[in-house]
Amino acid sequence: MRSVIIRPARPDDIAALVGLDSFAASDNARAAEIARWVDAGQCACATLNGKPAGYAVMHQHFFGHPMLEMVMVGAEYRRRGVGEALIRHAIETAPGPALWTSTNQSNAPMQAMLARLGFQRSGIIEGLDEGDPELVYRVAKSN
Ligand SMILES: CC(C)(COP(=O)(O)OP(=O)(O)OC[C@H]1O[C@@H](n2cnc3c(N)ncnc32)[C@H](O)[C@@H]1OP(=O)(O)O)[C@@H](O)C(=O)NCCC(=O)NCCS
Repeated sequence: MRSVIIRPARPDDIAALVGLDSFAASDNARAAEIARWVDAGQCACATLNGKPAGYAVMHQHFFGHPMLEMVMVGAEYRRRGVGEALIRHAIETAPGPALWTSTNQSNAPMQAMLARLGFQRSGIIEGLDEGDPELVYRVAKSN
Protein backbone atom coordinates (compact mmCIF):
# COMPACT_ATOMS: atom_id res chain seq x y z
CA MET A 1 0.00 0.00 0.00
CA ARG A 2 1.35 3.46 -0.86
CA SER A 3 1.96 5.83 1.99
CA VAL A 4 2.83 9.52 1.60
CA ILE A 5 4.33 11.24 4.63
CA ILE A 6 5.13 14.97 4.75
CA ARG A 7 7.85 16.16 7.12
CA PRO A 8 10.34 19.03 7.30
CA ALA A 9 13.21 18.50 4.85
CA ARG A 10 16.57 17.85 6.50
CA PRO A 11 20.11 18.60 5.31
CA ASP A 12 20.60 14.90 4.57
CA ASP A 13 17.61 15.03 2.15
CA ILE A 14 19.21 17.68 -0.09
CA ALA A 15 21.00 15.26 -2.44
CA ALA A 16 17.82 13.23 -2.95
CA LEU A 17 15.71 16.36 -3.56
CA VAL A 18 18.21 17.65 -6.13
CA GLY A 19 18.16 14.20 -7.74
CA LEU A 20 14.41 14.17 -8.20
CA ASP A 21 14.13 17.81 -9.35
CA SER A 22 13.50 17.84 -13.10
CA PHE A 23 15.10 21.31 -13.48
CA ALA A 24 18.25 20.66 -11.43
CA ALA A 25 20.08 18.95 -14.29
CA SER A 26 19.74 21.98 -16.57
CA ASP A 27 19.83 24.72 -13.92
CA ASN A 28 23.06 24.96 -11.96
CA ALA A 29 21.50 27.31 -9.43
CA ARG A 30 18.74 24.88 -8.40
CA ALA A 31 20.87 22.68 -6.11
CA ALA A 32 22.07 25.71 -4.12
CA GLU A 33 18.51 27.04 -4.05
CA ILE A 34 17.24 23.77 -2.57
CA ALA A 35 19.99 23.85 0.07
CA ARG A 36 19.00 27.43 0.97
CA TRP A 37 15.31 26.50 1.26
CA VAL A 38 16.15 23.55 3.52
CA ASP A 39 18.49 25.65 5.69
CA ALA A 40 15.82 28.33 6.05
CA GLY A 41 13.27 25.75 7.24
CA GLN A 42 11.03 26.53 4.24
CA CYS A 43 11.12 23.11 2.61
CA ALA A 44 8.79 20.16 3.26
CA CYS A 45 9.81 16.72 2.04
CA ALA A 46 7.29 14.09 0.90
CA THR A 47 8.30 10.49 1.25
CA LEU A 48 6.55 7.67 -0.55
CA ASN A 49 7.07 4.33 1.13
CA GLY A 50 10.01 5.85 3.01
CA LYS A 51 11.84 7.39 0.03
CA PRO A 52 11.96 11.14 -0.78
CA ALA A 53 9.54 11.60 -3.67
CA GLY A 54 8.96 15.36 -3.77
CA TYR A 55 9.24 18.65 -1.97
CA ALA A 56 7.39 21.91 -1.46
CA VAL A 57 8.67 25.34 -0.49
CA MET A 58 6.61 27.88 1.41
CA HIS A 59 7.69 31.30 2.66
CA GLN A 60 6.05 34.53 3.74
CA HIS A 61 7.67 37.03 1.40
CA PHE A 62 4.73 37.52 -0.98
CA PHE A 63 3.62 40.98 0.16
CA GLY A 64 3.87 39.53 3.68
CA HIS A 65 1.53 36.63 2.84
CA PRO A 66 2.29 32.90 2.81
CA MET A 67 3.41 31.79 -0.63
CA LEU A 68 3.83 28.28 -1.97
CA GLU A 69 6.91 28.96 -4.06
CA MET A 70 7.61 25.52 -5.45
CA VAL A 71 6.14 22.03 -5.61
CA MET A 72 8.27 19.35 -7.22
CA VAL A 73 7.52 15.65 -7.51
CA GLY A 74 10.09 13.29 -9.02
CA ALA A 75 9.00 12.16 -12.49
CA GLU A 76 8.79 8.51 -11.44
CA TYR A 77 6.50 9.37 -8.49
CA ARG A 78 3.94 11.55 -10.31
CA ARG A 79 0.19 10.86 -10.39
CA ARG A 80 0.33 9.04 -7.07
CA GLY A 81 -1.01 11.82 -4.85
CA VAL A 82 2.36 13.16 -3.69
CA GLY A 83 1.89 16.68 -5.09
CA GLU A 84 -1.62 16.91 -3.70
CA ALA A 85 -0.41 15.81 -0.25
CA LEU A 86 2.33 18.47 -0.32
CA ILE A 87 -0.10 21.23 -1.27
CA ARG A 88 -2.73 20.15 1.26
CA HIS A 89 0.00 20.21 3.93
CA ALA A 90 1.02 23.72 2.86
CA ILE A 91 -2.60 24.90 3.08
CA GLU A 92 -2.95 23.38 6.56
CA THR A 93 0.28 24.85 7.91
CA ALA A 94 0.18 28.29 6.24
CA PRO A 95 -0.34 31.05 8.79
CA GLY A 96 -3.22 33.45 8.20
CA PRO A 97 -6.43 33.19 6.22
CA ALA A 98 -5.09 32.28 2.76
CA LEU A 99 -2.25 30.65 0.86
CA TRP A 100 -0.93 32.10 -2.40
CA THR A 101 0.90 30.40 -5.23
CA SER A 102 1.60 30.78 -8.93
CA THR A 103 2.43 28.72 -11.98
CA ASN A 104 3.24 29.24 -15.62
CA GLN A 105 0.40 29.45 -18.11
CA SER A 106 1.98 26.46 -19.89
CA ASN A 107 1.80 24.26 -16.78
CA ALA A 108 -1.48 22.40 -17.30
CA PRO A 109 -0.81 19.72 -14.63
CA MET A 110 -0.31 22.31 -11.89
CA GLN A 111 -3.35 24.31 -13.02
CA ALA A 112 -5.49 21.15 -12.90
CA MET A 113 -4.18 20.41 -9.42
CA LEU A 114 -4.86 23.94 -8.15
CA ALA A 115 -8.42 23.94 -9.52
CA ARG A 116 -9.04 20.59 -7.84
CA LEU A 117 -7.84 21.94 -4.49
CA GLY A 118 -10.06 25.03 -4.63
CA PHE A 119 -7.47 27.67 -5.60
CA GLN A 120 -8.84 30.67 -7.44
CA ARG A 121 -7.12 32.80 -10.05
CA SER A 122 -5.90 36.10 -8.71
CA GLY A 123 -4.02 37.81 -11.50
CA ILE A 124 -1.27 37.41 -14.01
CA ILE A 125 2.36 38.51 -14.13
CA GLU A 126 3.91 39.08 -17.54
CA GLY A 127 7.60 39.06 -18.32
CA LEU A 128 9.11 36.61 -15.84
CA ASP A 129 9.38 33.85 -18.45
CA GLU A 130 9.26 35.27 -21.97
CA GLY A 131 6.02 34.23 -23.69
CA ASP A 132 4.79 32.20 -20.71
CA PRO A 133 2.99 34.41 -18.15
CA GLU A 134 2.82 33.53 -14.47
CA LEU A 135 -0.74 32.88 -13.24
CA VAL A 136 -1.28 33.88 -9.60
CA TYR A 137 -3.65 31.86 -7.40
CA ARG A 138 -4.91 31.93 -3.85
CA VAL A 139 -6.96 29.61 -1.67
CA ALA A 140 -8.84 30.63 1.46
CA LYS A 141 -8.26 28.43 4.46
CA SER A 142 -11.43 26.91 5.83
CA ASN A 143 -10.69 27.52 9.57
C1 LIG B 1 2.51 19.43 -10.94
C2 LIG B 1 3.05 18.28 -10.06
C3 LIG B 1 3.59 18.86 -8.76
C4 LIG B 1 1.87 17.31 -9.75
O1 LIG B 1 2.32 16.37 -8.80
P1 LIG B 1 1.72 14.86 -8.74
O2 LIG B 1 2.25 14.22 -7.52
O3 LIG B 1 1.97 14.18 -10.04
O4 LIG B 1 0.16 15.17 -8.62
P2 LIG B 1 -0.97 14.27 -7.90
O5 LIG B 1 -0.70 12.82 -8.20
O6 LIG B 1 -1.06 14.65 -6.46
O7 LIG B 1 -2.25 14.76 -8.71
C5 LIG B 1 -3.41 15.26 -8.06
C6 LIG B 1 -4.37 15.76 -9.12
O8 LIG B 1 -3.80 16.89 -9.82
C7 LIG B 1 -4.18 16.82 -11.22
N1 LIG B 1 -2.99 16.51 -12.06
C8 LIG B 1 -1.74 16.20 -11.61
N2 LIG B 1 -0.92 15.99 -12.66
C9 LIG B 1 -1.68 16.13 -13.78
C10 LIG B 1 -1.41 16.01 -15.17
N3 LIG B 1 -0.18 15.70 -15.63
N4 LIG B 1 -2.41 16.26 -16.05
C11 LIG B 1 -3.64 16.59 -15.62
N5 LIG B 1 -3.99 16.67 -14.28
C12 LIG B 1 -3.00 16.48 -13.40
C13 LIG B 1 -5.17 15.67 -11.32
O9 LIG B 1 -6.44 16.19 -10.98
C14 LIG B 1 -4.66 14.76 -10.21
O10 LIG B 1 -5.64 13.84 -9.76
P3 LIG B 1 -5.78 12.41 -10.49
O11 LIG B 1 -4.39 11.81 -10.59
O12 LIG B 1 -6.70 11.64 -9.56
O13 LIG B 1 -6.35 12.69 -11.84
C15 LIG B 1 4.12 17.45 -10.84
O14 LIG B 1 3.66 17.15 -12.14
C16 LIG B 1 5.49 18.13 -10.92
O15 LIG B 1 6.31 18.03 -10.00
N6 LIG B 1 5.75 18.83 -12.05
C17 LIG B 1 7.04 19.51 -12.26
C18 LIG B 1 7.22 20.71 -11.34
C19 LIG B 1 6.09 21.71 -11.45
O16 LIG B 1 5.61 21.99 -12.55
N7 LIG B 1 5.66 22.26 -10.29
C20 LIG B 1 4.57 23.20 -10.23
C21 LIG B 1 4.97 24.62 -10.41
S1 LIG B 1 5.95 25.22 -9.05
